[in-house]
Amino acid sequence: MKAVILNAYGGRDVLEVAELPKPEPGNGEVRIEVWAAGVNPVDWKIREGYLHDRLPCEFPIIPGWDVAGRIDAVGPEVTQWEEGDEVYAYVRKPVIQHGAYAEYVTFDAAHIARKPNNFSFEEAASVPLAALTAYQSLFDAGKLQPGEQVLIHAAAGGVGGFAVQLARAAGAIVWGTASEANHVYLKELGADHVLDYHEVGVWDRLRESMPDGMDLIYDCIGGETFEQSIPLLSTKGRIVSILEPTRCQALTEQGTPAFYVFVEPSGPQLAKLSAFAESGKLKSHLAAVLPLEDAARAHELIESLHTRGKIVLKVRE
Ligand SMILES: NC(=O)c1ccc[n+]([C@@H]2O[C@H](COP(=O)([O-])OP(=O)(O)OC[C@H]3O[C@@H](n4cnc5c(N)ncnc54)[C@H](OP(=O)(O)O)[C@@H]3O)[C@@H](O)[C@H]2O)c1
Repeated sequence: MKAVILNAYGGRDVLEVAELPKPEPGNGEVRIEVWAAGVNPVDWKIREGYLHDRLPCEFPIIPGWDVAGRIDAVGPEVTQWEEGDEVYAYVRKPVIQHGAYAEYVTFDAAHIARKPNNFSFEEAASVPLAALTAYQSLFDAGKLQPGEQVLIHAAAGGVGGFAVQLARAAGAIVWGTASEANHVYLKELGADHVLDYHEVGVWDRLRESMPDGMDLIYDCIGGETFEQSIPLLSTKGRIVSILEPTRCQALTEQGTPAFYVFVEPSGPQLAKLSAFAESGKLKSHLAAVLPLEDAARAHELIESLHTRGKIVLKVRE
């Protein structure tokens, strides 16, 4: 099969197209014929070697944790899936090696779900990692309730865009941060209020206009953004970050509930996301769809830190 691989960590030039044997599904696994693979910031972080100490990695590495496609082989002990089923999944495995930038990928049958029937393969491949992150952050960690005020940082990005839609669907009042050029986009996603993080004094003004503070702040940026968020919390406010494990722990020790989330695969939650998509509550905005061979260009775009929505690699026509 054709796959994009890297044989060493490094810049975008380490990505190459190679021929590899087609993987065989093991016990409890299915093999997915990949139609589209989603691109996430973690893909270039893995390529650079930044996750080396955190997760075991083995070369050659096929990057990519998001997939949409058709099941084309079913391993032993799999009863819930059949060849031809159209599915999508967040295919992070215990060892980083066999990812989704390939014509085929195998994965645990329990962690996949039927793709939304109103989504193309490209739209479906944009969903799993980012939307599961948003779901687990807002609801499992953040315990977001209807009527609560939630501030979402990087609301125009992959995770933030899904978070805005999910928070709105849950009945929260949604504040989103982005550059001014993305404010119309945020409103279309369902944000009630938009803030330009470039504006001098924006956090002071927010604090003045919202003296009771935010019930939940969702940090998809880290660093200064995390620090500037703390005074914006209400007395019962929580902060969830997908970038700041140490700061979250320190803040919790000081008495403010702060949760770091590292997204986990979940078939049942993906099935819920399919239901949201099919009811029109969750849409995918594709900033770029590129052929598999253009993985380096896809990384260049995602490394800009200014993607609106998602980038996807199209693997089959
Ligand atoms: N822990 C986990 O499980 C987990 C899961 C997923 C992602 N992540 C991490 O979370 C981060 C976000 O992921 P993503 O996929 O959403 O990234 P992304 O799609 O690349 O995010 C791009 C967005 O960030 C916005 N942005 C950049 N700087 C900003 C700032 N200072 N304030 C507000 N918005 C800003 C941009 O909006 P403008 O163009 O308008 O500036 C752009 O729309 C990445 O670092 C990723 O690695 C962690």
